[in-house]
Amino acid sequence: MITACWSVKGGSGTTVIAAALAALAARQGPGGALLADLAGDIPAVLGMSNDGPGLLDWLLAGDEVPSDALSRLEISGPGGIQVLPSGRLDGRADEADLQGRSEVLAALLAVDPRQVVVDCGTQPTGAALTLAAAAPISLLVLRPCYLALCKALEAPVRPTGVVLVTEPDRSLGRRDVEDALGVPVCAEVMIDPAVARAVDAGVLSSRLPRSLERALRHAA
Ligand SMILES: Nc1ncnc2c1ncn2[C@@H]1O[C@H](COP(=O)(O)OP(=O)(O)OP(=O)(O)O)[C@@H](O)[C@H]1O
Ligand SMILES: [Mg+2]
Repeated sequence: MITACWSVKGGSGTTVIAAALAALAARQGPGGALLADLAGDIPAVLGMSNDGPGLLDWLLAGDEVPSDALSRLEISGPGGIQVLPSGRLDGRADEADLQGRSEVLAALLAVDPRQVVVDCGTQPTGAALTLAAAAPISLLVLRPCYLALCKALEAPVRPTGVVLVTEPDRSLGRRDVEDALGVPVCAEVMIDPAVARAVDAGVLSSRLPRSLERALRHAA
């Protein structure tokens, strides 16, 4: 089952949520979890190096690649997560806007027996947009601000649910977001300094902060 995470504004917490969902899935299921990175920051939050080939190379390689080429890109991350890294973006993201290959990628991930989480990044395009649209669980990671809500209403994809990354005393709450977007808020994640510290230290998945674990346990 694929869970795609995406946002409409930079810095919303998409990568954090994707990594945390994969960490929880890796713990829960015997089959493990695959975390596919179409945005580029997953290795940094997991404390891994990011200098090998990845999904963008696969997308750009065309139809001639051997059938096991995708699985050979996987690298083992902490906490039992297998990571499909993005490869080096280097301005090539637009080139990877190859609709045919994006659909093949979505189809391959759809038949993977593991829980698959995809970081589709901010304002997804190309393969990231294809995945965000095709995934049975498509989560918009949203800070509760008016601008983000406006952008979410204009997004080319309708999410199946929202993960609200919020803090006490925000004027927009769960009900406002659900009323405006017409989809459920499936998790409310509080801003927690322990999360920022875990990200900065590259230990998010190996030492998943309690606040994330509690909020996301039933999200996907
Ligand atoms: N729940 C949280 N509590 C505290 N800080 C958080 C939380 N979620 C995210 N952050 C902080 O926000 C920063 C940005 O988060 P993240 O990289 O996940 O956002 P993003 O939406 O993926 O950003 P980008 O647009 O760069 O891809 C993190 O480095 C972290 O410091
Ligand atoms: Mg990100």
